[in-house]
Amino acid sequence: MKDSNKSNSKLPVFNSHVYCNEYLVDGILHSWKGATTEVFSTIHSKDKEGNIGPTLLGSIPDMETETALAALNAAEKAFNRGQGVWPTMKVKDRLRCLTTFAEKMKKSREQIVELLMWEIGKNKQDSYKEFDRTVDYIFDTIEAYKKLDRKSAKFDKESGIHAHIRRGPLGVVLCLGPYNYPLNETFCLLIPAIVMGNTAIFKPAKHGVLLITPLLKAFQESFPPGVVNILFGRGRKIASPIMETGKIDVLALIGHSSSAVALQDLHPNKNRLRLVLGLEAKNPGIILPDADLDSTIKECISGTLSYNGQRCTALKVLYVHESIVDEFNKRFSAAVDNLKFGLPWEEGAFLTPLPEPGKPAYIQELIQDAVSKGAKIMNAKGGELSENYSYPAVLYPVNDEMNVYHEEQFGPVVPVISYSDINEPLDAMATSEYGQQVSLFGRDIRKLGPLIDVLSNLVCRVNLNSACQRGPDVYPFTGRKNSAVGTLSVFDALRSFSIRTFVAAKDNPYNNEILDALMDSKDSNFVNTEYLL
Ligand code: G3H
Repeated sequence: MKDSNKSNSKLPVFNSHVYCNEYLVDGILHSWKGATTEVFSTIHSKDKEGNIGPTLLGSIPDMETETALAALNAAEKAFNRGQGVWPTMKVKDRLRCLTTFAEKMKKSREQIVELLMWEIGKNKQDSYKEFDRTVDYIFDTIEAYKKLDRKSAKFDKESGIHAHIRRGPLGVVLCLGPYNYPLNETFCLLIPAIVMGNTAIFKPAKHGVLLITPLLKAFQESFPPGVVNILFGRGRKIASPIMETGKIDVLALIGHSSSAVALQDLHPNKNRLRLVLGLEAKNPGIILPDADLDSTIKECISGTLSYNGQRCTALKVLYVHESIVDEFNKRFSAAVDNLKFGLPWEEGAFLTPLPEPGKPAYIQELIQDAVSKGAKIMNAKGGELSENYSYPAVLYPVNDEMNVYHEEQFGPVVPVISYSDINEPLDAMATSEYGQQVSLFGRDIRKLGPLIDVLSNLVCRVNLNSACQRGPDVYPFTGRKNSAVGTLSVFDALRSFSIRTFVAAKDNPYNNEILDALMDSKDSNFVNTEYLL
C-alpha cells in the first residue's frame, strides 16, 4: 500500500501555514506561550526535506485547565448573573454586533475555504457551500430574532393579569462542534446562543480547527468582552474541568452521545444543565418494490457518500425489497465505481481524502468483519485502500451479526440489506438506538401513506424519494433516542438557547399607571413595546 492521495494529480503544495498563538478570553487576544500541537492534513505533499507524507498545516495552542477556567470566569463575568451589558442589552444593539461580525467574517471566505479543504478534505464546492450557508444562517438568525422580538413587543391580559412575555437568556454556554462541519454546525450553536443574550466558551473540534483562527479578531472586535471566549486544545483539559465547576448552564454539542453523556456526568447540578445536542444516527434508506430506480440510485449515492458518508444525516444502511435487490445492487455498485476520487480542489472530485488518520483502517475492519460473516463486496473498487482513503464498498447481504449493521460508520462503506416484509426494516428502526431521519423510496400512495404515519413516529424527518439532509436550515433538525436533544433550526435554536420569562402585574389603576410610565420612559429594555423593523 502506497501513499499518494490515490489521485492522479501531482503532489499539491500548501503555502498558507497558520501558526496560531492567540486565543480570545475576556475580549483580549492573549498570546499563548505554552505548548502547541501541530496540525496535519492527511493529504500528502512533499516536506522541506523532500519526504512525501501528511502535510503540516500549522499549529494551535495546547491549553491547560487554568486558561479554560479563566475563560469560564470571563463568560460568567460578562453574563454577571443576568446583569451584564450583553444579557441586558437592547435586542437591536445585540443584532448590530452580530451584523458587524458577519460582515467581517465574509472577508475571510477564501482563507477559510482553503483551510476547510486541507484540514478536513471537504471538496471545493461543499467548502464554499459550508461557508456561505453559515453566513446566511447568521443573517437568517437576525431576521428570525427580529420577528420573535416583534411578536413579544406587547402585553397580554388574562384573568385580570397583564403579562409581558419574552424569551430570556440562560447563562453560560459551553459550545463544542464536530469536525465534519467545523464552521457551520459550530456556528449554528454559537450564534443563536449568544444572540439570545447568553455568553459562551467555544472550543473547535480536533480537525477543522485552524479555519477558526482567521475569525478570532472579528469576534474580538464585534462583541463586548467575555461574550465569546475561544480556546484551543484537548477536551479533557478544557471541557471537562469547565463542566466540573457546575457553572455551565447549557451544554451545546454536536458530536457523539458518549461525549455528551461523559460531559453531562461531570456537572454537579445536572438538573440545572440544559442540553442542546446533535448526535449520531444510522439513517436508513427503504426502497420499495415500485421505486423509480434511476432517481433512487441518484439520491442513494448522494445520501450515502456525499462528503464520503461523514455526515450525521448520511444514509448509513439501505433496505432494498428482495424483488429488486439484484438490479439495485448492480446499478448502485456501478454508480459508486463511477464516482471521482480527487483532491478537494480538483474539478468534479466527489470522494476526497478522509481527515481522520485512523479512518481507512476502521472502514477496512468493518468490511473484513462483514465479509467474514457472509457479505460480499459488490463493486469492483470497493475497499481499495491508500493511506488516506478506503474506496466505498457496497456490502451485501448484511445482517445483524455484522458490526457495520450496528455501528455508525461515518465513512465510505454502504451496507445493503434485502427484505421481504416491510416490518423487517420497521422493526430494525424501532429497536435501533437512533432516530434521526429516514429516506423512503416508492410511488404507490396506498403503501406510502400508512408507512409515513409509522415512520414519522420512529424518526423526526421522513424524506420521500429524497436523500436525508439537515437543510434548509429553516426546517427543524432534531432526532429521537440517541440522535439528539432539543431542536435546531434558525427559529428553533433561538428557543433552545432561551427560556420564557415575563413581567406580570394585576390589572389595577396603580399598576397600570406604573406600566404606562415604564413604557413611555424606556427605562427597561424588557418592558418595551418598540418594534424592530
Ligand atoms: O453531520 C450532520 C450535518 O448536520 C448534516 O448536514 O445534511 O446538510 O449535510 P447536511
